[in-house]
Amino acid sequence: MKLATPYYLIDEARLLKNLERIQLVREQAGAKSVLALKCFSTWPVFSLMRQYMDGTTSSSLYEARLGYEEFGKEVHAYSVAFAEEEIDELSKISDKIIFNSVTQLKQFAGKTGQLARGLRLNPQVSYSEYDLADPARPYSRLGVVDIPPPEVTELISGAMLHYNCENDDFDNFSSVLEEIGERYADLLHQLDWLSLGGGVFFTGDDYPLGKFIEKLKAFSEQFDLQLYLEPGEAAITESTTLVTTVLDVVHNERDIVIVDSSIEAHMLDLLTYQEKAHIKGGSPSGAFHYIIAGRSCLAGDIFGEYRSDIPLRPGDQLQLADAGGYTMVKMNWFNGLKMPSIVVKRLNGRCDTVKTFSYQDFKQSFGTDAFAHNGGFG
Ligand SMILES: Cc1ncc(COP(=O)(O)O)c(C=O)c1O
Repeated sequence: MKLATPYYLIDEARLLKNLERIQLVREQAGAKSVLALKCFSTWPVFSLMRQYMDGTTSSSLYEARLGYEEFGKEVHAYSVAFAEEEIDELSKISDKIIFNSVTQLKQFAGKTGQLARGLRLNPQVSYSEYDLADPARPYSRLGVVDIPPPEVTELISGAMLHYNCENDDFDNFSSVLEEIGERYADLLHQLDWLSLGGGVFFTGDDYPLGKFIEKLKAFSEQFDLQLYLEPGEAAITESTTLVTTVLDVVHNERDIVIVDSSIEAHMLDLLTYQEKAHIKGGSPSGAFHYIIAGRSCLAGDIFGEYRSDIPLRPGDQLQLADAGGYTMVKMNWFNGLKMPSIVVKRLNGRCDTVKTFSYQDFKQSFGTDAFAHNGGFG
């Protein structure tokens, strides 16, 4: 049966390729990996991911709770700022709680019981092509800049640094890790664990995984530390496509294909970072050249360009590649567009539709039935 579009299609076989590389790093470097839920929270595939990863890391109480309920293993709780009323619940469900500032660490340390506490450090170096996503940009609020004094160090057993964004350059990773080792040497010798955050593309086909493993192993031995990685994108890269259907083809100097999805609503990061979607199939030298656009009212709702040997027509399907990271977690109801369903292609080939959205989901996002027809309408 043909599935109704739009839908995100998560291919577990492709996911496994990333997970097996993560597993190698765990086995050979001893570095644990916790999934960054901010990137990917689609829990119906956690039963597979759990076998290759050590737990989850979160940016909020709800993410921590999801990790606790659906992934299990280690739950790392981090937030740019915790609210006081969240600490008790977080203390019950988390293994580690990582504070973003010394003020919050001191304020809540007494309420966290036996929980392992950590502090986020801002090493003031980073790898990011985007100012928007650069954790070390000027005036960054992400982590503590100064080296923590002893009265702070005694409150923590570990630390977290997140300073990479889409870093596929091993030499850069290696030299910055050395800088970090030098800068924080005294502190690192006192800690039990250190999380290096996410943003390293170590599951990529061309990434020198062997060198990466050696580097991590040497670093953890040098400081006698349990290392953690927090892969988001690296865990799920290339595992997911967004399957859409062509609804119309219009012409304004160029041929413009309109699909039943929207970059603004369903692949927001492409818009935020001004990147083009990669559209699967097609032919680079094809005679038919299209702009592929979404169906929201936003004039710039454009996924990218596509060439084909044959003309595209309404009813044809187009698949947008690499649609797993920062997509489903950022879906929104802009224009009331139906959110894509989520379909998982299991390792045995079976396709499970794990989530569909309806008009009721849209409506209930803005109010509950108790207020239906409020004001006398109807
Ligand atoms: C603290 C932290 N950990 C992990 C990640 C995951 O990064 P990525 O998806 O690039 O691997 C992020 C991303 O912003 C982050 O801020």
